[in-house]
Amino acid sequence: MPRQKNKITIVGSGNVGATAAHWAVTKELGDVVLIDIVEGIPQGKGLDLFESTPVEGSDCRILGTNDYKDTKDSDVVVITAGLPRKPGMSRDDLLFKNAEIVKLVTQSVVKYSPNAVLVIVSNPLDAMAYVAKKVSGFPKGRVMGMAGVLDTARFRTFIAEALNVSVRDVTTLVLGGHGDEMVPFPRLTTVGGVPLTELLPQDKIQKLVDRARQGGAEIVNLLKTGSAYYAPGASVIEMVESILKDKKRILPCAAYLEGEYGFKGIYLGVPAKLGANGVEQVMEFKLTDDEQKALTKSADSVKDLIGKLKL
Ligand code: LAC
Repeated sequence: MPRQKNKITIVGSGNVGATAAHWAVTKELGDVVLIDIVEGIPQGKGLDLFESTPVEGSDCRILGTNDYKDTKDSDVVVITAGLPRKPGMSRDDLLFKNAEIVKLVTQSVVKYSPNAVLVIVSNPLDAMAYVAKKVSGFPKGRVMGMAGVLDTARFRTFIAEALNVSVRDVTTLVLGGHGDEMVPFPRLTTVGGVPLTELLPQDKIQKLVDRARQGGAEIVNLLKTGSAYYAPGASVIEMVESILKDKKRILPCAAYLEGEYGFKGIYLGVPAKLGANGVEQVMEFKLTDDEQKALTKSADSVKDLIGKLKL
């Protein structure tokens, strides 16, 4: 593949990986390598996507492969590989199995792309980002997890729907781990600059908060055979775009904390500046007592998972 523009590797050619590749190509962010251990699927999906580029007018090369050599010198690597939860599997089973997968993938990725920025999507998200950081030995800014963009996107969707306004004008923040304890911030939510709290009654806002927190489960319950991928795929590519174009957007994502918000040595969803160097800054602001309590609860469940990994 002749080297052209940026190079994005997406590990895992399932629904999230393939959808992320689709968004990356639609936005013409660079050449895309889709890699998986399953033979044929990344090649087939990659070729199919490549054949869509004349229609979209997108000059990107897409390569599907099973060989990590093809990922050499990637600028950004998105890791979506991992098992979905199946009936009878405990959360811990998923944790250990996916930790093993993320570990092996990270080792292979790092071998060929020692300067890449890693964006982790595999679940349980915050713990998997921790695994990738540990295994890669990369500086903290070059390893992050995607969750906050997805969780805020869900919250923004429901708010815009409730108010019958453009999704574009809804700005919000969801912090914490990507789990049931995530912390949406109605206090900091605005609609075209107007505080949400002025536009909707408290009970109505609470319903939207609850729906956003359960957003992933709502999709799983509908699909029955898997989890969400359109919104997760779009969300990770928004982060990738900010990194590759050095836009320095402030997006909520799982970042490694060293004292910010009172937490150390864990990954947690916080507002971060994303540029060419990955997470360039964690934006800190003063939380109310209730918010700090909620964030601590969320951080505790992430710590619990990381603790079980014994890395
Ligand atoms: C979700 C899963 C994929 O939130 O984490 O949809």
